[in-house]
Amino acid sequence: MSDNRPKVLLTGATGFIGGRLLRVLAAEGFPVRCLVRSAERFRKAVGERPGMEVVEGDLLRPETLRRALEGMDAAFYLVHSMGGRSMWEIESFVERDARAAENFVRAADETGLSRIVYVGGLGEMGGNLSKHLASRQHVGEILASGHAAATVLRAANIIGAGGAPFEMLRHLAEKLPVMVCPRWVETLAQPIAVQNVVEYCVGCLNVPETAGQNLDIGGPDILSYRSLMEIYCRVRGLRRIIITVPVLTPRLSSYWINLVTPVPAGVVMPLLEGLKNEVVCRDNRIRELIPIRLIPMEEAICTALVESAEGPGKLPSVQACFLAR
Ligand SMILES: NC(=O)c1ccc[n+]([C@@H]2O[C@H](COP(=O)([O-])OP(=O)(O)OC[C@H]3O[C@@H](n4cnc5c(N)ncnc54)[C@H](OP(=O)(O)O)[C@@H]3O)[C@@H](O)[C@H]2O)c1
Repeated sequence: MSDNRPKVLLTGATGFIGGRLLRVLAAEGFPVRCLVRSAERFRKAVGERPGMEVVEGDLLRPETLRRALEGMDAAFYLVHSMGGRSMWEIESFVERDARAAENFVRAADETGLSRIVYVGGLGEMGGNLSKHLASRQHVGEILASGHAAATVLRAANIIGAGGAPFEMLRHLAEKLPVMVCPRWVETLAQPIAVQNVVEYCVGCLNVPETAGQNLDIGGPDILSYRSLMEIYCRVRGLRRIIITVPVLTPRLSSYWINLVTPVPAGVVMPLLEGLKNEVVCRDNRIRELIPIRLIPMEEAICTALVESAEGPGKLPSVQACFLAR
């Protein structure tokens, strides 16, 4: 059965989206090769699976990429460089992300890869776009500049256990009876459940019309971050007070968010800066190309809570995801 299926290289296989996508690709019979920075760490988290190959490589080390891409038909690009411990590392993710994508495209061209599917970010280009969201779009442009037909799936916050947006939301709502937030809590977003993102990723392999396209992906709800927090509190039966103040900058917020959530400052800071930008789908072509049931936010939050309660045996916890690096 797997003979007719494209051979797929999965980058980011230890990550929030990549880990889930790996399970679905394997279950659907795609031959999968995972490019990981540490095979040992990957095996500890995922274990062995029949038919799955693991190759060590690092997108910032171009000499490691050719071997990973050799013989592959399609690749998922599910990587970002946010994080790090020093201020220099935290600030320099834009340069690392561009370099990683350039290395990848060069190796993909050399090895004759025909498809790339990348999950990037929503948000309109312009002077006001945050560094993180602008970087996500720039990476999409780099990936589309090679010979392989790239599909750029542009997403807002992706909701699921172990993902940075949900874990920030969960820890803030669970721990703080009163939340003092900047004006960004009123910004509109169109978050999407991680299960839907995985369905869209697999759908791109099955629907050739998605090749070479930039496609916005979002859930059925367009809502403010305040409403998202209110949904979380309603689902959990929590009574919380949200106060907005005009003077709290993203940087200042990131310090106290860092104190109450396990998500590292290097991830919190760029994400918070992006909360000033509206992230809503502008075109909905994906709905016709890959018709799936879009999961309402309330259901996505319930599912993420159940997954969190099931613990690290079922899914990597946010601490495992971040602290292992
Ligand atoms: N999560 C969201 O809400 C969201 C929203 C919109 C778009 N996206 C996009 O979706 C993609 C995946 O995000 P995610 O949330 O799944 O990320 P994640 O959980 O933080 O995982 C990131 C992955 O990238 C890998 N990686 C980082 N640098 C690498 C390098 N130099 N070489 C090889 N691998 C490297 C990490 O591997 P290690 O285990 O070795 O560190 C990890 O597997 C990203 O493009 C992100 O921008 C995410």
